[in-house]
Amino acid sequence: MSQQDHDTYLLGDRPVRRLGYGAMQLAGPGVFGPPKDLDAAKAVLREAVALGVNHIDTSDYYGPHVTNRLIREALHPYPEGLTIVTKIGARRDGKGEWLPAISAQDLEAAVHDNLRNLGLEQLDVVNFRSMLDVHGPAEGPLAEQVEALARLRERGLVRHIGLSNVTMKQVEEAQRIVPIACVQNMYNLVHRQDDAMIDALARQGIAYVPFFPLGGFTPLQSGALSKVAQRLEASPLQVAAAWLLQRSPNILLIPGTSSVAHLRENMRAGALRLDAAALAELEDIAGGAA
Ligand SMILES: NC(=O)c1ccc[n+]([C@@H]2O[C@H](COP(=O)([O-])OP(=O)(O)OC[C@H]3O[C@@H](n4cnc5c(N)ncnc54)[C@H](OP(=O)(O)O)[C@@H]3O)[C@@H](O)[C@H]2O)c1
Repeated sequence: MSQQDHDTYLLGDRPVRRLGYGAMQLAGPGVFGPPKDLDAAKAVLREAVALGVNHIDTSDYYGPHVTNRLIREALHPYPEGLTIVTKIGARRDGKGEWLPAISAQDLEAAVHDNLRNLGLEQLDVVNFRSMLDVHGPAEGPLAEQVEALARLRERGLVRHIGLSNVTMKQVEEAQRIVPIACVQNMYNLVHRQDDAMIDALARQGIAYVPFFPLGGFTPLQSGALSKVAQRLEASPLQVAAAWLLQRSPNILLIPGTSSVAHLRENMRAGALRLDAAALAELEDIAGGAA
């Protein structure tokens, strides 16, 4: 399998299908507490794997603990080749606020929480999620945290290290400490601030995993998107997903949903091809209202 295959890309040393699944939407409202229907949430995970998903994104701070435990209950023992990616660097308080948790002790405890709740002896990929600014990448030193993760990797608790909510300068700083397998930042049809980073990572064979690929809690909506979707007999969110797949071969998708019907719809985006006319029409959406 080469990096160039249309359907797969290497996440560290793991070949994963480019259409994966993000588990965040399986927790309760505000990504806090359990979902209303635990069986329905597990059904989404099982259907994802049945449809060929072999890359699931999660974190122990979703819930907290909720999505990891759902993944374990729904899928353990895990199918051969399933890559589970988690992230650390934050914690939740009693009201569900997102707070930084970035000391070496915090990071080690978070790795152990993920191992225990997922039922794993080694985590495939751990992203360090920068909380310098919770809403978007902010410059600042991350070396201490990356060094702490590198030590956990040396102990065999973590296979690969990634970064989330970071700038290219921070990626380069981290790469001087340890190999970086992937970067997870916000990016979609409307928010294209990482164009240069995506291309730079592609040249190095590093995966870029956009979060909020469909727009996040407020899924993308625009007249141009609906028009293209109608012409291609697809849904607007399928077009948004297909656009990401076509944008660069190193982009791995982790669209989130709590619905089996939406999951099936999203997976069908893998078969959708956007022609030059569609791509031109979609250009105008960048920076517009989502
Ligand atoms: N690193 C970070 O800081 C960070 C931040 C946010 C998220 N993430 C990761 O990225 C993943 C993806 O992000 P996300 O789930 O927040 O956003 P997303 O994938 O852009 O969109 C999810 C939203 O779209 C809806 N949706 C999905 N498919 C749909 C469809 N076919 N039709 C209509 N609505 C649809 C979902 O609602 P329904 O449940 O009703 O389908 C949900 O409201 C997360 O699951 C998480 O793993 C990482």
